[in-house]
Amino acid sequence: MDREDGPVKVTGAAVYAADNHPDGLAHGYLLTSTIARGSILAMDTSLAEKAPGVIAIYTPFNPLELHPYAKEENAELTPPLQDTGVRYYGQAIGLVVAETFEQARDAAALVTTRYDAERPRASFADGLASATPPPNGTPVVDVLAPGVSSIDEALAAGDVTVTVTYTTPAETHVAMEPHATVAFWTGDQLTVYTASQGVRLVVDRLTETLAIGPERIRVINPYVGGGFGNKWGMWAHTPLTVAAARALDRPVKTVLTREQVFTVVGHRPVTAQTVSLGAARDGTLIAVKNDGVSGKSASNDFYEQVANLSLALYGSANLHVSRKVVTLDVPVTTIMRAPQESNGSFALDSAMDELAAELGMDPLDLRMKNDTAVHPASGLPWSSKHLAECYTLGAERFGWSRRSPRPGAVIDGDWLVGLGMGTATYGAGRGQASINVRLRADGRAVVSGTAADLGTGQSTVFALLAADALGIPVGRVVPVLGDSATPPAANAGGSGSTSTNGPAVRLAADAAKEAMVRLATEHEKSPFHGQEVAFSAGEVRAGGRGMPFGELLTLLGVPAVEATATSPRNPVKDHAFRSFGAHFCEVRVNRWTGEPRVTRWLCVVDAGTIVNARTARSQIVGGIVMGIGQALLEDLRIEPETGRFANATMADYLVPVNADIPHIDVEFLNYPDTLLSDLGARGIGEFGIVGAAAAVANAVHNATGRRIRDLPITLDKLL
Ligand code: MOS
Repeated sequence: MDREDGPVKVTGAAVYAADNHPDGLAHGYLLTSTIARGSILAMDTSLAEKAPGVIAIYTPFNPLELHPYAKEENAELTPPLQDTGVRYYGQAIGLVVAETFEQARDAAALVTTRYDAERPRASFADGLASATPPPNGTPVVDVLAPGVSSIDEALAAGDVTVTVTYTTPAETHVAMEPHATVAFWTGDQLTVYTASQGVRLVVDRLTETLAIGPERIRVINPYVGGGFGNKWGMWAHTPLTVAAARALDRPVKTVLTREQVFTVVGHRPVTAQTVSLGAARDGTLIAVKNDGVSGKSASNDFYEQVANLSLALYGSANLHVSRKVVTLDVPVTTIMRAPQESNGSFALDSAMDELAAELGMDPLDLRMKNDTAVHPASGLPWSSKHLAECYTLGAERFGWSRRSPRPGAVIDGDWLVGLGMGTATYGAGRGQASINVRLRADGRAVVSGTAADLGTGQSTVFALLAADALGIPVGRVVPVLGDSATPPAANAGGSGSTSTNGPAVRLAADAAKEAMVRLATEHEKSPFHGQEVAFSAGEVRAGGRGMPFGELLTLLGVPAVEATATSPRNPVKDHAFRSFGAHFCEVRVNRWTGEPRVTRWLCVVDAGTIVNARTARSQIVGGIVMGIGQALLEDLRIEPETGRFANATMADYLVPVNADIPHIDVEFLNYPDTLLSDLGARGIGEFGIVGAAAAVANAVHNATGRRIRDLPITLDKLL
């Protein structure tokens, strides 16, 4: 079905965080640092204070009261304005509040700041030689066959070995909706509208930094204009806005400018991976080694365990990954769509093609050869895996047999034409979620829980699953997401929304039906009183007679019956859960300019039950588009001298536009993963980006003979 929230979005009726304007609203504007490392000596706010409309100016010398956060490595470790330290360029160092946005912005321009500046650590390349063990997680994982003492010994036993280093630049999410927070207090009760991947995440962090109980905080955010991981952490503008609203006793709104969306919030760090693959002559992998290094902001602890995918994708008796970090004075490093696996797969799936070339094997055959029935590192069987079918079906549909094994062999006019492939994959899980279903006298069913729909189709999944369980048309289901006053469901992250919330929606619908049946049986005035009652197709039924639930409620004068049900965390421990698929793409590289263009794409997806093919397809396409951006365009440049992001605008930080993207074919296999849940749905939000950049790089190699190991693959690298 079409998205249930499509009409309100295209008509502008959907209220996003920044669209809220409670009476008496004042506007906040962030001041941000213009050095990357050091401390603030003084801030002169005297001119700004006299500027028209200014209500208050908060700085480290006049801070708002905020308490330390509990540790949460995806976001900043310290709340804003609590010290004079500067840890990155573009850090929030003040908040100007005025009667209008323009007044706040203009006054902010009048504030002058004196720094004691130090030279920032801003070069990942320079830091590589002195990379350190990570702040959390295990530095080294070895899985070795009996009798093998080291990964290098295992590699040495291979008939063919490749060792190659791949690097990926910093990237940023640039979701369409800038981050925004609107807050007001009613007595000691706080209401917050804020762009977030989960209202519960915001409640939790505000509880810490405001030192108040969660019962005093309500966070509302029904619509989100994209997140991709960047609306998981809570960023400086939110606690500042909330605390300013309390201090001023009036509502305050702060919307980040587009440039601030590059620095006040997190980004994906720079990474490097050195991959060694050892194989027998027939292509059987015998050793996979991946030494991964990730950039890490000095202001928090998130880094990419970029080598991890090597433990979970291709079978090998010997596996080794290591993790190191280079600490940089850059904005916060955080999760971004398929953290560690999207950039991780660029290295692993490029290396697989390099190995295939060494072996003289078709890259598809090499992957088929190393497909496994068990998780390579743990040895646990996969709950449900149909990767081989993805490969074969995809190859046939795409015309993989027409790929020339000789790079540079296919020329079409001005273009060199190449085919490439990669493996799409992402881990799956099912957490605990509670959902409420309320059957109303108007014949509608309200399905509510704290889930978020970032544009993913989650609210449509709620509508479909509830309608299906209740036997009513989807148009009569009202999904309510993004309100912390509703039961705690899954936040949108880790591709876990549908797998976690879906089963809970079904349970809650069943519980609501039971509540309706009880009412029909027990209510004195019910025409079904004392009878054997059933609920089917939206009706209460007994003795050959049926009545829609809305009619019965109306007859009885009862406004609604409701039930809340909780679906538990997946208890299965003896299987591993992961989605798999195959990317196939065609890339054309201009013979004279080196310009790469992706011209065809097919992705075959084994992600369990697909609840709604249309929105699911959109998720896969979105992941692939982002993967094409990662392959060809995205490159957040850190100036080594200043630590400043040099291209922190949407004009300079390139992401694909429609003209860059060909028609993308998506095929779903639709095998339910019944060990994960009765619903059998895994997750699809991050799946599509994994393997996509490697597929492009492999096609570029097939087209040109040039192996680009440093993303993005720009035309200068192909000349
Ligand atoms: Mo996603 S990067 O798990 O928000």
